Amino acid sequence: MKVISIANQKGGCGKTTLAVNIAATLSNLGNETLLIDLDPQAHATFALGLSGKSSEHKTSYDIFRSRFNKADIDFDGLVISDREKLSFIPANMMLSAAEINLGGIDGAAAILSQTLAHPYFEKYAYVVIDSPPSFGFLTLNSMYAADVILVPMDLSYFAFNGINGVYRVASLLNRETGRSPSIFFAMNLFDSRSNFARKIEKDARSKLGEYLLSTKIRSSVRLREAASEGKTIFEYADESPSASDFINLTCEILVAESKKTNAIMKEFMLHAPEAGAVYVLGDFNNWQKTEANRLTKLENGHWSGHVTLRRGKYRYKFLVDDEWIHDPENRKVSANGYGTHDSIVKV
Ligand SMILES: Nc1ncnc2c1ncn2[C@@H]1O[C@H](COP(=O)(O)OP(=O)(O)OP(=O)(O)O)[C@@H](O)[C@H]1O
Ligand SMILES: [Mg+2]
Repeated sequence: MKVISIANQKGGCGKTTLAVNIAATLSNLGNETLLIDLDPQAHATFALGLSGKSSEHKTSYDIFRSRFNKADIDFDGLVISDREKLSFIPANMMLSAAEINLGGIDGAAAILSQTLAHPYFEKYAYVVIDSPPSFGFLTLNSMYAADVILVPMDLSYFAFNGINGVYRVASLLNRETGRSPSIFFAMNLFDSRSNFARKIEKDARSKLGEYLLSTKIRSSVRLREAASEGKTIFEYADESPSASDFINLTCEILVAESKKTNAIMKEFMLHAPEAGAVYVLGDFNNWQKTEANRLTKLENGHWSGHVTLRRGKYRYKFLVDDEWIHDPENRKVSANGYGTHDSIVKV
């Protein structure tokens, strides 16, 4: 299961529009998908036409209330599954009470993440979370649960404040929990004919580099109309340019995320001007000396090589003219069974 949290403290930049329609795209592509409305404004709930039901139906507030009351949650009563492959947990105003009741309690930011770890949710390939326009308790829960944080940006310069905020919260979460979700940015309400839009895009690109997705969600009255009719863009206008924007955006997120999680190019480098041959060996290549893990000599006496690694923690050493040495530039070492030390790398 992959969890995608849509977050930006800036109001009105398109969090709900992206959450609803990315979830709809994922389900249209054949994935069992769960959308969670984690905003007391309940806009995603309205956008799926569920406003009437949500007052009597259980809501995402029950996830937090059950923790507060130390009670079990009735998941079947919580999750609405009236669309094919698209389930939904609605919200209502009561959610604002969650922060008041639980905000100060240790570990409260992990409540949603712990709930999603329940076997009930194993059937979902994707969970998409719509967050409120603030970095309070609810957004922390949303980001804590995330494998991917997607930050929509509209075309105002204030959108850049949101960027710094997301990085700050993500690094706080990383310090406290060791989790490091991928963070991507997507431009919304884009008008490619406007010089201003192109200038903002250029600035955003220079600040965010590859983390700014190249698909832009164009401004379209169809998106507003779909939301006001309680429909996803595919239910309202499945051949519209907006529908293709969402297919492109969602596929781009999946590709970017799979590249990031499955194949990280890690560079290993050693300064050894006198050496004749240098290899990097580790538990990632079974400590086998092969041509693939031979480093290349650079002009400045350094040797360099890249190894494609999945996320994880690895032991490694350099083999310099048949002599084992640990990485002198890396202070993280761990004793091995030979009475010496291995270097440790975490990717
Ligand atoms: N690409 C778009 N084209 C046209 N209208 C859009 C687009 N994206 C969002 N909107 C409209 O802009 C308004 C704000 O969008 P949305 O509710 O998705 O933002 P939000 O970030 O969730 O807002 P909040 O911070 O209040 O939760 C809505 O009326 C929505 O229909
Ligand atoms: Mg919203």
